[in-house]
Amino acid sequence: MVQYDSVAREYSEMITVDPVKKFAQRPQLLKLLSPKKKELILDIGCGNGAIARMVAEKGANVVGYDSSIEQILLAKSKTPAAKNIEYFVSTPYTFTYLKTFDKAFTVMVLMYAGSEETLQEFFNSTYKLLKPKGLFVVLDVLEEKIPFGKDFYGRLFVRTAPNKGKLLFNVPDSKPFAVDIITFSKQKLESCAKKAGFSSIEWKNLLPEKEGIKILGKEYWEVFSKQNPREWMILKK
Ligand SMILES: C[S@@+](CC[C@H](N)C(=O)[O-])C[C@H]1O[C@@H](n2cnc3c(N)ncnc32)[C@H](O)[C@@H]1O
Repeated sequence: MVQYDSVAREYSEMITVDPVKKFAQRPQLLKLLSPKKKELILDIGCGNGAIARMVAEKGANVVGYDSSIEQILLAKSKTPAAKNIEYFVSTPYTFTYLKTFDKAFTVMVLMYAGSEETLQEFFNSTYKLLKPKGLFVVLDVLEEKIPFGKDFYGRLFVRTAPNKGKLLFNVPDSKPFAVDIITFSKQKLESCAKKAGFSSIEWKNLLPEKEGIKILGKEYWEVFSKQNPREWMILKK
């Protein structure tokens, strides 16, 4: 049993109402990934498949894996059989596929790696699974930017040990739940990516899309834009 087995339903419900997912993470991922028809794209830590389905809507073939069987069961139940998506229960240590991928992405997964070895393995495994010049888009929180002890858009990070913490989700209109995380710096992620072999690394801020600003107002997003602990890491093989 992995930790997301016991919170799969709560997570799944939370992401349907969470403005951060809806108006920032997902639309910006689509821009950065720019999925094309027939491309083969890997979703690492796909959860209930919400992003995999969005990417598949653009005509790409998507393969998602996740260590939580409960998340994969939810993903399968939410995906029509004819869709161009396959799901697997797997980890970066065990995932294999017959073809190599044009692109890969992982959204809010690395902080659940549990150890620095597994964090490194996410990069090593993805590097091997990508085609030459393949793109890898990562979104996660950076230790040096985490506002420990302060609510940040329905998330409260609590330090429990060096490089470890608890993340309490309390997003309006969803049930609260907590998970254990590890924390790592931008420098650590860069060293993992370089060690795996990635040739280029670019960073971008996570920002709300115009629609989110229109619906929720500039004031709602002010603190988010200035103090967000997440960043996009864009890697090329
Ligand atoms: C916060 S959820 C993110 C889900 C999805 N990427 C999204 O943004 O909606 C984190 C997911 O990472 C998965 N995960 C954590 N550690 C993993 C590992 N070592 N291998 C594969 N999946 C893992 C969890 O099971 C969980 O479904």
